[in-house]
Amino acid sequence: MSSHSFDTRGLDQCPFIPVFGAPSIMFERGSGTELFDVDGKRYLDFLSGIAVVSLGHANPAIVSAVQKQAETLMHVSGFFANPTATDAAVSLNALLADATGLQGQVFFCNSGAEANEAALKLARKFGGRGRHGVVSALGSFHGRTLAALAATGQPAKHEPFWPMPDGFRHVPFGDLASLEASIDPSVAAVLLESVQGEGGVVPASSDYLQGVRQLCDERGLLLIMDEVQTGFARTGRWFGFEHAGVAPDVVTMAKGMGNGFPVGAMWARREVSTLFAPGDHGSTYSGNAMAGAVVTAVIAEMKRIDGPRLAREKGEYLSAALVKTPGVAEVRGHGLLRAVDLGAGRDAKAVYLELLSRGLVTNAVNATSLRLAPPITTSYEQIDEAVHLIAAVLAEGVGS
Ligand SMILES: Cc1ncc(COP(=O)(O)O)c(C=O)c1O
Repeated sequence: MSSHSFDTRGLDQCPFIPVFGAPSIMFERGSGTELFDVDGKRYLDFLSGIAVVSLGHANPAIVSAVQKQAETLMHVSGFFANPTATDAAVSLNALLADATGLQGQVFFCNSGAEANEAALKLARKFGGRGRHGVVSALGSFHGRTLAALAATGQPAKHEPFWPMPDGFRHVPFGDLASLEASIDPSVAAVLLESVQGEGGVVPASSDYLQGVRQLCDERGLLLIMDEVQTGFARTGRWFGFEHAGVAPDVVTMAKGMGNGFPVGAMWARREVSTLFAPGDHGSTYSGNAMAGAVVTAVIAEMKRIDGPRLAREKGEYLSAALVKTPGVAEVRGHGLLRAVDLGAGRDAKAVYLELLSRGLVTNAVNATSLRLAPPITTSYEQIDEAVHLIAAVLAEGVGS
């Protein structure tokens, strides 16, 4: 049996520890919004590797940056600088200075969970002994490493791994009074997503985020925004918190910043970033030259195409088409991070599976909602094609 057909052999034959369940389709290559499986079947990728491949598969600008850097220098360690990681840090600081009005510094890592771990450790340094508490929201998702998991407001995900690290508490998302009530002298920081992605694509209101910022100022708390899913233009702004006009103290990011290359980052404003002294934190791959080349290329390409504007305009087009589609109860989200709610009693997983069999990749983000996060480079024709497929599947009564 070829190594390309393990997907048909079930969990016990799967060479991966099946934390995602048994993979159902083997994708071999991609181009822009299109994916092709090992049998040559074409799919439209309206998930982008969970909001990662925002510039499309095999984007020539990113391919060329990877090829060039692979031939030049891949890695040297954090003991030394290299030009591409330095360029990436400068570009990232400039983006965040524009978004927040604040100067800061960057720590590079490999994933969203690691970016949040860095932020959670920084919050502990900020708070000092006895003040290490972090308040985050119910329904949030911050990653699978232990502290990021403890910050994640989904008790069912904690349960198999008890005890959780100490100091985490959760309040209802969007409820400022509950947040205020949860703050006592042991709390150092508030950690929030601007749109809860895994929680069902639920945007925070501007009033709420502005209220949280004010509360953090009054109580001397850090506001950490987790922009891992929402960052890098996906919501129609470079960062999701910009919709509310608030300036966080710390921002975490990953996913779209590498367009598929594994990289993450934590940014903090300078008075906070300097709390990390040499030896306080690190990672072998922090400042990796390949990742630096990719991040620099992603930022340059996003700027060249004006990714935030494209995400905004295409997102509005997608949303307008979806709200008119019979069987769609609600469309949530910003830009090209959207949930299509199918209404009570409709099984989003059945709809997702049917769409997949017809060549549209989406994701059932909760029992009744599909998540759509196509590449920002997707065409209007591809959006029409996806909406037609969704309309057809809903019209046939799939999942009801
Ligand atoms: C908001 C948010 N934070 C953190 C993470 C974790 O990122 P990673 O899977 O790269 O560790 C995710 C992943 O979905 C996320 O959506």
